[in-house]
Amino acid sequence: MKIAILVTHDYCLGIGKDGHLPWQVKEFTEHFDALTYGRPIIMGRRTYEAYGAPLRGRLNIVLTSDPSSLKYDLDYGEELLQIASSYEEAIRIAKKSSNEVFFVGGASIFARALKDATDIYLNIIWDTYECDTYFPDYKEWFKPKRWETLSSIEVEDPEYYDEFKYVKMHLKRKEEKFYQKIFSFFRR
Ligand SMILES: NC(=O)c1ccc[n+]([C@@H]2O[C@H](COP(=O)([O-])OP(=O)(O)OC[C@H]3O[C@@H](n4cnc5c(N)ncnc54)[C@H](OP(=O)(O)O)[C@@H]3O)[C@@H](O)[C@H]2O)c1
Repeated sequence: MKIAILVTHDYCLGIGKDGHLPWQVKEFTEHFDALTYGRPIIMGRRTYEAYGAPLRGRLNIVLTSDPSSLKYDLDYGEELLQIASSYEEAIRIAKKSSNEVFFVGGASIFARALKDATDIYLNIIWDTYECDTYFPDYKEWFKPKRWETLSSIEVEDPEYYDEFKYVKMHLKRKEEKFYQKIFSFFRR
């Protein structure tokens, strides 16, 4: 199964502020939609609340320990919105309808999914924003021998504002050898 992470972070790994994205960039939304449309996405309760409603055209799986605390209407139908109370349950739900799933935040969801992710779609903004939520430090998860860079494109977006630059990357986890698989299993 393809387990993908989709994240945009700034130069200091910032991903959010006060429950929302610190930036509004049309290109990130289009990239997000192009990758996830028709595929299940898994997100934490706070990220779902920031959206305010399920994203159309894909199954939204929301992780929460307390479904009754969700602030928004749950009456969307289960092809659009399902609630999971554990990471494993969220993956099980996704697997029923697809062999691909996208973890779309926030911080604790990314930290957990990095253990299993086969693909990471990264936008790294070459700027810093005021943030209170962060992507896990690369020192904790990125081992160059474990990841292959399938694509890396530097993008300038003069429409957004002068010198707005980001790097759009697709990382793929390399196939682990048998002894590495055993090692990874005990590391969890
Ligand atoms: N830049 C990006 O790419 C990006 C992407 C997504 C989000 N964001 C930003 O990140 C911020 C939100 O992230 P966040 O880290 O604060 O919150 P979050 O991950 O969206 O949600 C956290 C909540 O998810 C639930 N949860 C997480 N893991 C769980 C598990 N294993 N089992 C059951 N429930 C689980 C818990 O809900 P309960 O408390 O209900 O139990 C937890 O409080 C916002 O600012 C958002 O805009 C940025």
